[in-house]
Amino acid sequence: MHLEGGNVVPERFYDRTISEKLLYTCFLLLVGLGYLMATAYLYVTHEMNDGKPGLSISDVADSYYGNRSGTRLEAAIRGPMAGYIEEGDRNLLVAWLKDGAGEDHFEKEIKPILQKTCLNCHVASSGMNLPDFSTYEGIHKVAEVDTGMSMASLLKVSHIHLFGISLLLFMLGSIFIQSEVNIWFKRFLVVSPMLAVFVDVASWFLTKWDSHYAIVVIVAGGILGMSMALQILISLFQIWTLKPPASRHGI
Ligand code: HEC
Repeated sequence: MHLEGGNVVPERFYDRTISEKLLYTCFLLLVGLGYLMATAYLYVTHEMNDGKPGLSISDVADSYYGNRSGTRLEAAIRGPMAGYIEEGDRNLLVAWLKDGAGEDHFEKEIKPILQKTCLNCHVASSGMNLPDFSTYEGIHKVAEVDTGMSMASLLKVSHIHLFGISLLLFMLGSIFIQSEVNIWFKRFLVVSPMLAVFVDVASWFLTKWDSHYAIVVIVAGGILGMSMALQILISLFQIWTLKPPASRHGI
């Protein structure tokens, strides 16, 4: 805001110097690129969560809620590793998993089964960089029920997101409010991405608790992306095209 003949006039893009306009433009372009990279990163790291290509609600649910229908070990011996194990041994392994995969039964009952074929490949010395099943610690990692992201990593990504994105949205919004659009639309577009970040982060925790909230994660993420895209595109356009009103000419 500045004063002009006693009236308070809001700052607009035409009040900016060329240097400021260049600064805004470069910043907006890099933020836009960053957003695309973030989306691509989410896609490639999440699309295979449910074992099927393409990002879906179940991918999102799997990363926060986990796939609680079984363990990675059970999925493997029913799927890709099925050929390396006999029916009877498989049933014993599954029974052990259902029983909580305790260490007490490992040496006597489970390790002999693994020794038959699995340990040909699943030991550190095989050089295949596979999970090592010769110790209880090694197999324990694939024998736990997958309950999704841990509370600690959820808290970690949450605070990074809240600090990082709110700062980014603050800078983006400070540029965007210098545009000339319907005042209610402007107010909406300033608030909606902030609200979306809050709902997004809150819905990660809700999804960890109940997988049905995965849809909220996707909708909030979509609203955040759309609001940011609109702020960036409108600003980029108006920075270089917005003309001062006729009354301002000659100032
Ligand atoms: C011929 C070598 C070989 C044998 C024998 C073998 N595996 Fe595997 N296993 C692999 C390879 C390679 C992968 C990784 C590629 C994949 O997931 O298909 C793998 C992956 C796995 C995984 C998935 C690990 C993860 O990170 O989720 C599990 C669990 C597993 N095997 C269990 C077993 C069990 C149990 C046996 C014995 C019944 C066994 N494997 C026998 C080669 C082998």
